[in-house]
Amino acid sequence: MDLQTEFHQRPFLFLSFPISKPLCFALSFLILSVSSVFIFNFSTTPSNYQYYDLSRFHHFFSQIFPQNIPASSPSLSPSLPRPCDYSYGKWVWDENYPFHSYTENCPFVDPGFRCTQNGRKDEGYRKWRWQPEGCNLPRFNASELLERSRNRRIVFVGDSIGRNQWESLLCMLTQGVSNISTIYEENGKPINKHKGFLTMRFQEYNLTVEYYRVPYLVVIGRPPPNSSTQVNASIRVDELHWYSKRWVGADVLVFNDGHWWNKYKIFKMGYYFQEGGRLNMSMDVMEAFRRSLQTWKRWVEEELDPNRTRVFFRSYSPVHYRGGTWSEGGHCNTDKEPERDYTKLEDEPENNIFISNVIKQMDTVKHKIQFLNITYLTEFRKDGHPSKNREPGTPDDAPQDCSHWCLPGVPDTWNELVYAHLLSNGFRK
Ligand SMILES: *[C@@H]1O[C@H](CO)[C@@H](O)[C@H](O)[C@H]1NC(C)=O
Ligand SMILES: *[C@@H]1O[C@H](CO)[C@@H](O)[C@H](O)[C@H]1NC(C)=O
Ligand SMILES: *[C@@H]1O[C@H](CO)[C@@H](O)[C@H](O)[C@H]1NC(C)=O
Ligand SMILES: *[C@@H]1O[C@H](CO)[C@@H](O)[C@H](O)[C@H]1NC(C)=O
Ligand SMILES: *[C@@H]1O[C@H](CO)[C@@H](O)[C@H](O)[C@H]1NC(C)=O
Ligand SMILES: *[C@@H]1O[C@H](CO)[C@@H](O)[C@H](O)[C@H]1NC(C)=O
Ligand SMILES: *[C@@H]1O[C@H](CO)[C@@H](O)[C@H](O)[C@H]1NC(C)=O
Ligand SMILES: *[C@@H]1O[C@H](CO)[C@@H](O)[C@H](O)[C@H]1NC(C)=O
Repeated sequence: MDLQTEFHQRPFLFLSFPISKPLCFALSFLILSVSSVFIFNFSTTPSNYQYYDLSRFHHFFSQIFPQNIPASSPSLSPSLPRPCDYSYGKWVWDENYPFHSYTENCPFVDPGFRCTQNGRKDEGYRKWRWQPEGCNLPRFNASELLERSRNRRIVFVGDSIGRNQWESLLCMLTQGVSNISTIYEENGKPINKHKGFLTMRFQEYNLTVEYYRVPYLVVIGRPPPNSSTQVNASIRVDELHWYSKRWVGADVLVFNDGHWWNKYKIFKMGYYFQEGGRLNMSMDVMEAFRRSLQTWKRWVEEELDPNRTRVFFRSYSPVHYRGGTWSEGGHCNTDKEPERDYTKLEDEPENNIFISNVIKQMDTVKHKIQFLNITYLTEFRKDGHPSKNREPGTPDDAPQDCSHWCLPGVPDTWNELVYAHLLSNGFRK
């Protein structure tokens, strides 16, 4: 099945995420009422939170387009490493970027992400480099990561955007392998299989890089016997997906979740929530999301060896449909460079707040858990989607894909952030 259909067939996948004004207010309310931790972290008072954030955007935009920004900020002493917030910064045009990239011919790239082969003419979207403010991202070095990952397992868990990121990392790592035939799917499964899981083995390094398709993280299954006929399936918010047994023992775990928790669509599909073996027909979607994250948290705390597993939870990957939703002719094919107008950036998605709050409740020193905040940087990249250059065989009138990403492309930057975090917390050294 083609990816776009897979992603779009379920209408609830598309959270035209908290992007509307009412949600913006709801979000402020949420921040004010629920998340005191969040506010304190910004060292600001609740009443000026929004202004604070806006001024950051202004600052950002006054700097985004000058072309020759020095690679390092002179105000920082290079000899003193300090914690860096990679989530904030700017995209800079860089002719030399990416330094040693893979190409679309990497065998692990889904046909739907091979934008040039599918007719995309411009290539400028590959020349933007993310420059965090106040520090630099280390240059990705495939050999370095492969060496550090010897006898290790790197595991991605989530939806098809998680798969997009997994494919990106596979191809980035391929740059450090001389014989590509030594990389193979352990069970001989074809790479274009979109259900279940895939385990790619890097033979020379005894490394596996795995992907598990688990859009809700928790179990979705048959409703309990005797349920009302309006119930098509139940989402068990208190039970992590059975695949989770396979994630134990991973050295790096990269989760993503949220696109499928659509409060407008989930009940219309006949999906209801279950807890303690019983359906709860009145449980609200975001409450269910919150509870499923608590289930995830308990699992991390109880099942993972904190000395072994480094956990990332990737934030929401924005979509860029203009002039309608994905099914109403929404498009992004005229976007050839990153967004310049900061007023067009969307508000922080509600999921991100939920996820980052759960992580703040955890002992992140003991457990090495990182909220991988890529939403802001990705928000600019309306130019990075396949748009109308979808996989061969796609009908001309098919919806555009403004949710997945061309490869090489934006998910490479997400993986550069993962790499930076691994190096800075001493992965395998
Ligand atoms: C994610 O990063 C952006 C940019 O630094 C920031 O504005 C936003 O508050 C962060 N989100 C969370 C939930 O921490
Ligand atoms: C990449 O890492 C390898 C192994 O650590 C090292 O030998 C090599 O010099 C690095 N390459 C660059 C360009 O830094
Ligand atoms: C390969 O790595 C696994 C851990 O992922 C380890 O259990 C096994 O012993 C390693 N095999 C060899 C031959 O080193
Ligand atoms: C590449 O690896 C494959 C699979 O292990 C092997 O059959 C082939 O001989 C290797 N090719 C070279 C040039 O080493
Ligand atoms: C099934 O529903 C009926 C009517 O609500 C109830 O009387 C019966 O006890 C239920 N059976 C089970 C196994 O829950
Ligand atoms: C349950 O699923 C079927 C098949 O996907 C669909 O036709 C039906 O409308 C769904 N029921 C509800 C209540 O949405
Ligand atoms: C159903 O979930 C709501 C939270 O959304 C909770 O307040 C309520 O007690 C639950 N009902 C039952 C019967 O567990
Ligand atoms: C983790 O490592 C520390 C320090 O080496 C050790 O004291 C602790 O017992 C280890 N914890 C587990 C769960 O293995």
